[in-house]
Amino acid sequence: MRTQVGIVGGGPAGLLLSYLLHLRGIESVVLERRSREELESEIRAGVLEQGTVDLLNEIGVGERMMKEGAFHRGVNLQFGGHRHRIDFQDLVGRGIMLYGQHEVVKDLIAARLAAGGEIVFEARAVAVEGADTGSPAIRYVGREGREETLSCDFVAGCDGFHGVCRQSIPDGARREYERHYPFGWFGILVEAPRSSEELIYCLHERGFALISTRSPQIQRMYLQCDPEDDVANWPDDRVWEELHARLAMAEGGWRLKEGPILQKGIVAMRSFICEPMRYGRLFLAGDAAHIVPPTGAKGMNLAVSDVRVLCESVAAFYASGRTDLLDAYSERCLRRVWKAQRFSWWMTSMLHRFHGEDEFRYRLQLAELDYVTGSRAASTSLAENYTGLPLE
Ligand code: FAD
Ligand code: DHB
Repeated sequence: MRTQVGIVGGGPAGLLLSYLLHLRGIESVVLERRSREELESEIRAGVLEQGTVDLLNEIGVGERMMKEGAFHRGVNLQFGGHRHRIDFQDLVGRGIMLYGQHEVVKDLIAARLAAGGEIVFEARAVAVEGADTGSPAIRYVGREGREETLSCDFVAGCDGFHGVCRQSIPDGARREYERHYPFGWFGILVEAPRSSEELIYCLHERGFALISTRSPQIQRMYLQCDPEDDVANWPDDRVWEELHARLAMAEGGWRLKEGPILQKGIVAMRSFICEPMRYGRLFLAGDAAHIVPPTGAKGMNLAVSDVRVLCESVAAFYASGRTDLLDAYSERCLRRVWKAQRFSWWMTSMLHRFHGEDEFRYRLQLAELDYVTGSRAASTSLAENYTGLPLE
């Protein structure tokens, strides 16, 4: 098989890239390890920056998001039993959209297939070959277990953190930066009405908690936990007890709404960046190149901004043979990626309990939250980063 751009991975990065390229008249094939059903049912991100929302609307795949998603004008930060609202709309004139990542994935798959695009499900890439030549190829194993080759002009490595594309870059040609955090998130999906109109990010002595939403009937909540913990150690009663304790307000009056828990899972947290995001004709995008801890809600949004830059660079090459934008791809992305990494690290450090460290650190975190919520300058900085720094 042959195409112009071979895309490994059918997550948000790969699917969006494929659709953006199609709009520029450039052919691509997406190879995705999992089935369509698995891909469309995985619960992950929920917060879309204004720039992501605008892009999905511009390219005509935002219709369902505008109908079923919820536009939020701010978030709440809670500490010491008190809740403080950060009004994004007032501070920076932008907001965020709450709409599940798997819904975005469904919309992109539908749009791509309707346009005659090729997404090969259950096709596992095993290696990228000839990335440093003019004609790279992706070796993959298809549904029938046969090894096949996709030859192309460019390879887009959109295969997430555990994919094969980054590993195809020789050790000496990449540098990796990494930080692990001593906690994870226990996430649940609940069938219940909303407990709060807007998200609540909460720091409590017992640890972090987050209230988010997916729809008026389905809510998403997270609790700081041990990253090595087992879901089996968290029966429903324990989950609710922890959420009630962490989210309780000093003045009372507010109550978390419970309901049947539909799903539970634990995610570990890390910061990771691979530099550069390119090797010859192989370009990494999204989680394949970088991971942020989820507290800043940046991962999927970064995947979107990467592929936007990549599409523009590839399109310039096909239109006029220009290679300067391809050469600048990694640097342009990394400037934004490092800023999002900084913001995610900062939110994570401010809002989680570092058990085992002295009280000094915790008191500094409380002072920082007091400053952020009390100062218009500091709130504006949070709002500017959370709603998304401008694309260049
Ligand atoms: P992925 O979504 O990981 O997609 C990679 C795809 O490649 C997968 O479908 C995989 O099956 C496929 N693949 C892997 N290896 C191969 C192979 N060898 N061959 C073929 N296919 C392969 N981000 C936000 O922006 N906002 C949020 O609110 C947010 N919340 C989050 C909450 C949680 C609990 C978690 C875990 C993440 C959250 N994120 C959030 C991060 C976000 O989910 C990721 O950053 C996003 O999925 C990255 O998209 P991607 O396309 O780069 O990678
Ligand atoms: C959600 C996920 C996040 O990482 C976050 O910071 C806020 C909300 C969510 O899944 O809704």
